[in-house]
Amino acid sequence: MSISILPELKRRLSPLLFDEKDIENEKIPALVEAARWAPSCSNNQSWNYVFVHKKASTRPAVEAALTRGNAWAKRAPYLVAVVADPDQDCKDNGLPYYAYNAGLSVMCLVLEAEHLGLRVHQMAGWDEGKVKEALGCPSRFRVAVLFALGYEADANSLWDTLDERTKNKLAKPRERKPPSENFFSESYGKRLLEPTTL
Ligand SMILES: Cc1cc2nc3c(=O)[nH]c(=O)nc-3n(C[C@H](O)[C@H](O)[C@H](O)COP(=O)(O)O)c2cc1C
Repeated sequence: MSISILPELKRRLSPLLFDEKDIENEKIPALVEAARWAPSCSNNQSWNYVFVHKKASTRPAVEAALTRGNAWAKRAPYLVAVVADPDQDCKDNGLPYYAYNAGLSVMCLVLEAEHLGLRVHQMAGWDEGKVKEALGCPSRFRVAVLFALGYEADANSLWDTLDERTKNKLAKPRERKPPSENFFSESYGKRLLEPTTL
C-alpha cells in the first residue's frame, strides 16, 4: 500500500552527487527562515549555522576536516556547520538537548530546501577540532552536524567518471526498517501497525 505523505518528505534523499552549480542568493533567506522557526527546548534556539560557500576563505580548511569517505561533499556550493554551546540549552533528564534542537532545526531547513528544488546531505564524518578551528568557534561549542547543500547532479551524465564505490552506493536501494521494529502502541514491543499497512 502506498501512503500519501508531504511531497517534500517523500522525495527527500541525501545525494552523493552534487552539481557544482551555485544556489541563487534569494533562496538562502528562505532556508534561514525555515530553520529559525523550528521548535526548541525552552525556545533556546541554541543552534548557530555557519554557511561556508565554495569561494569562502574558510572553505579549504572545512573541506580538510572531512573524512575521506565524505569527499563527495566538496562539490556542493555550500558546506554548512551547525554549532552550539551545550551550556546554553536544556539538560533535562541528563540529555544534551542542544543536539536534539539542532536536528529539529536542520530538518526544517532540509524540507524547505526540498521545496526549493535543493538537496541536503548531512554528515557525521569530520574532525570536530578542525571544523571548530576553521570556523573560529569558541572552544566550549560542539559541532552538532555538517551538511552539504546544493543541487543534485544527474548521475547518468556523470556515470562514466565515477569510481566503483560511488557506483555501488548509488545503485543500492534506499531502505527502512519495517515499522513493526520501532513503532509501538501501549507498550514497548507491541506493534502499532499491521505489517500490511506500509
Ligand atoms: C546525523 C547524520 C550523520 C550522517 N553522516 C553521514 C556521513 O558522514 N556520510 C554520509 O555519506 N552520509 C551521512 N549521513 C546520511 C545518511 O547515511 C542517510 O541519511 C541515510 O543513509 C538515509 O538515507 P537518505 O537520507 O537518503 O534517506 C548522515 C545522516 C545524518 C542524519
